Amino acid sequence: MNLKQMVGYKAAEFVKDGMIVGLGTGSTAYYMVEAVGKRVKEEGLQIVGVTTSFRTADHAREWGIPLKDIDDVDHIDVTIDGADEISSEYQGIKGGGAAHLFEKVVANLSDQIIWIVDESKLVEQLGAFPLPVEVVHFGAGQVFRLFEKSGYNPSWRKEEDGERLVTDSGNLIIDLHMGVIEEPKRLATWLDSITGVVEHGLFLDCVDRVIVGSEQGPVVEDVDRG
Ligand code: 5RP
Repeated sequence: MNLKQMVGYKAAEFVKDGMIVGLGTGSTAYYMVEAVGKRVKEEGLQIVGVTTSFRTADHAREWGIPLKDIDDVDHIDVTIDGADEISSEYQGIKGGGAAHLFEKVVANLSDQIIWIVDESKLVEQLGAFPLPVEVVHFGAGQVFRLFEKSGYNPSWRKEEDGERLVTDSGNLIIDLHMGVIEEPKRLATWLDSITGVVEHGLFLDCVDRVIVGSEQGPVVEDVDRG
């Protein structure tokens, strides 16, 4: 079993009958959806899923997981999702799979958030992984230039064919290559203030539990936010 599969399957153990479950996106969340799907099929686990991307929705349907639109639930009991980086203070970068807008909408409605990662995602400080920023098409080049002027080394997220990637919401993604993000909260506040920015991949002060995959097995870390 690879590390992503290990943590995906471990996380599925935290899903209980009757829960509304946020289903994350990415190659690690893929295994969690698979494991939850198996429990639905084999144990008759009764849950409702709320998905964070079109591809997760397709995958969940393949497993027969009943789904609801986010607007048709009043809360989500637990959301299980991957992450691109987790700092020593449990702050995160997400959006490597271009789904951070839906992922943040789902996270904001969730009573509990679990991130599942292999140990390569743990860092002291955020920023080695490019920070995704989703922007509307109109004026996207202006936002790009603003990032250039600010010294944030932006690049367009591209598809394999070289075309600019378009998200599930029809927007573009600019990745910021910052190296180290010294002040994530200050950066998040600035990004939130830019017209044309829809959402960025800084997920701050939100995770409740992290499941880390290592050769020794999955390690469950509960986050104490005081
Ligand atoms: C998608 C995400 C993913 O959770 C993140 O990119 C981690 O993906 P993976 O598990 O494939 O490494 O934020 O937008």
